[in-house]
Amino acid sequence: MATDRAADLAPFELPARTGGRGWFVVFEGGEGCGKSTQARLLAQRCGALLTHEPGGTRLGTALRRLLLDHDAGDLDRRAEALLMAADRAQHVAESIRPSLEAGRAVVCDRYLGSSVAYQGHGRGLDPGEIRDLSLWATGDLEPDVVVYLVVGENETLRRTGAPRDAIEAAGAEFHHRVRQGFESQAEADPDRWVRVDGSGTVPEVAERVSSALRARLRERS
Ligand code: TYD
Repeated sequence: MATDRAADLAPFELPARTGGRGWFVVFEGGEGCGKSTQARLLAQRCGALLTHEPGGTRLGTALRRLLLDHDAGDLDRRAEALLMAADRAQHVAESIRPSLEAGRAVVCDRYLGSSVAYQGHGRGLDPGEIRDLSLWATGDLEPDVVVYLVVGENETLRRTGAPRDAIEAAGAEFHHRVRQGFESQAEADPDRWVRVDGSGTVPEVAERVSSALRARLRERS
């Protein structure tokens, strides 16, 4: 029977990283691709700090409410982009960078690639400007590896059901553009982005994630 219990999956030992810093691994993908489950399992298996955006800090929790609450009213798309970047700035300063510098790996559920896909491609802002905004906000902190979980568009709709927040409710066209935004980032930066098939059971996907990551991190250590 399918299970998502980390106890049933073998521990995953990260290779040593030159310079003593921790590895920074990010999961990206559209709604309902299973990345939150896979991020949690990977972090448990390798003893990494598990965190997420938007909302990985106290400030972030407040920003997340403003960003995703159905009742918050229509947010201007530039305001939305700036709030996502503010969330990321605080998250990196308070949590991600200190952990990496202390030698502990970080697994983050969404990061800069989500802003490029959602606020750039989805909302129709310049993806390059959105990326630069996030790089400025984070002092140029980019992940070592981005695990891009891919599921079919119909599968995504089936898994998510009724929209749970204001961004999920944005409509099929919007989510199609978001998907193209992820695809074009994966194509443009193949050394950092690794596409992983998100179909199948949770343990099957977890094994695909760990073998893709093992190969990628070995190249980069
Ligand atoms: P998340 O909590 O990961 O939700 P889900 O489980 O549906 O993936 O993210 C909440 C929403 O925030 C999601 O619709 C994507 C959106 N988002 C952006 O639009 N820009 C960003 O930079 C980030 C990090 C998330």
